[in-house]
Amino acid sequence: DWTMAAFRQQAVEAIRRQVGKGRVICGLSGGVDSSVAAVLIHEAIGDQLTCIFVDHGLLRQGEAEQVVELFRGHYNIPLVHRDASHLFLGELALTEEPELKRKTIGRLFIDVFEEEARKIGGADFLAQGTLYPDVIESVSFTGGPSVTIKSHHNVGGLPERMRMKLVEPLRELFKDEVRELGRELGLPERMVRRHPFPGPGLAIRVLGSITKEKLDILRKADAIFLQEIENAGLYDAIWQAFAVLLPVRTVGVMGDARTYDQVCALRAVTSTDGMTADFFPFPMDFLGRVSTRIVNEVRGINRVVYDVTSKPPGTIEWE
Ligand code: XMP
Repeated sequence: DWTMAAFRQQAVEAIRRQVGKGRVICGLSGGVDSSVAAVLIHEAIGDQLTCIFVDHGLLRQGEAEQVVELFRGHYNIPLVHRDASHLFLGELALTEEPELKRKTIGRLFIDVFEEEARKIGGADFLAQGTLYPDVIESVSFTGGPSVTIKSHHNVGGLPERMRMKLVEPLRELFKDEVRELGRELGLPERMVRRHPFPGPGLAIRVLGSITKEKLDILRKADAIFLQEIENAGLYDAIWQAFAVLLPVRTVGVMGDARTYDQVCALRAVTSTDGMTADFFPFPMDFLGRVSTRIVNEVRGINRVVYDVTSKPPGTIEWE
């Protein structure tokens, strides 16, 4: 596409002009925006860029490996991969409250990011995958949980604390344009199409108290749900789809034994911007198939329910 090819060229030149011989660090989350920003910046300034991937242990099955493989393996971009899952899970063990989970994760994320940045000698610039809607929102927004969303998502506070200037090459783009740019830059289709994923990750999908064991259970159920969605050709028709592990146990029967295990809720919505959403109308046989697979294949879950709440009044996430 000529428009994106032209944008790419202009963006590369603008990054070179802004950065000069300076050093840039970029936090990777595994999502589309930070990935596209990183690859674009690397194209412009090569190894003046270092990516920092703070792995909080709250990603989906296989995601951390995919990030490392793509950036280090495929693109050969200097990448610090810090496995901080013990630190995050240790502190998260102390809370069950959704906003406190977010705050804890945001604080630890900044601490670890800063520590890793210091280890590599700091940088002059911090790169972020800020999009046009983020720019608009942060200007007009007054209070509420989105402040936290943005502050974690875009590592707010860091640039001032570390006295870095911002590099935000996607500031004029909407999400679909970022995807197009990603394709233009040769990012794999599975990365470019990826659904939005919250910064606090699975911490807000294991309701209540978080343990490694519960996260592992959730990851298995979530992977089955997404795999079936892919197989049915429905992935691109959905805005977000995920499993939620409920802090409730119910009675079931397996063979001739009684079980007393956890409930898994499935959530899938359509949306254009995440502000409003409708539950996705799966065929019943699809839901039945996913339920059977999860109960048969995931130890610890013996019941599956589907969330038919739209937003409003429900939110997309359960916490
Ligand atoms: P809700 O649950 O508020 O979610 O309907 C709207 C969109 O925001 C995402 N979300 C978050 N993203 N940090 C993030 O980076 C957060 O704390 C957070 N909470 C919700 C959610 O996945 C959906 O796309």
